[in-house]
Amino acid sequence: MNIANPQLPDLQGRPDIERLVNAFYEVVRKDELLGFIFDEVARTNWETHLPRMYAFWETVLFRTGGFTGNPVAAHAKLVPQTEMGRTQFDRWLLLFRQTVDSLFSGPNADHIKNCAQDMANVLFSRINGVPDPRFDPARLTPEQRARYAKYRAEQPA
Ligand code: HEM
Repeated sequence: MNIANPQLPDLQGRPDIERLVNAFYEVVRKDELLGFIFDEVARTNWETHLPRMYAFWETVLFRTGGFTGNPVAAHAKLVPQTEMGRTQFDRWLLLFRQTVDSLFSGPNADHIKNCAQDMANVLFSRINGVPDPRFDPARLTPEQRARYAKYRAEQPA
């Protein structure tokens, strides 16, 4: 429960998800640590990314969004190009929690923050622990190359 703003409404459906996602990425895009990852590294098309994120969070919260992406691959692809460490994920989570708390309060608001935390942990460890086999090997750092070779050696033939 958000004790600071108990008078705020809870997330109730797709329009609330859209409000949350729009507000969150407005903050993210201005953030020193994260903004350039979207606008300069991934060159995100916001007209397609935002609806994908509405679908993602609607699917997580209400099981109706029809999200069919691949978040691990989408983030693993960024690892050879920019820092995607604990600092970045912690910052992402802080901004996400702050945005939720500025707009909503209640069980769904709590649930979406918990889901975000779980997803952040899974994404962080998957993309940094086991390299995605779809990496372009030419762009890996020596350390990533060594991990990639180890990962491939461990795969069943
Ligand atoms: C360091 C933190 C993070 C950064 C910098 C980041 C950045 C990005 C970028 C650049 C994309 C691709 C956008 C494009 O299409 O251009 C993306 C996609 C996405 N992100 Fe993140 N992200 C972060 C954390 C998270 C977390 C914690 C979640 C979930 C709770 C998440 C959920 C997603 C989803 C669902 C997609 C779409 C995947 C798809 O298209 O299949 N991200 N993210």
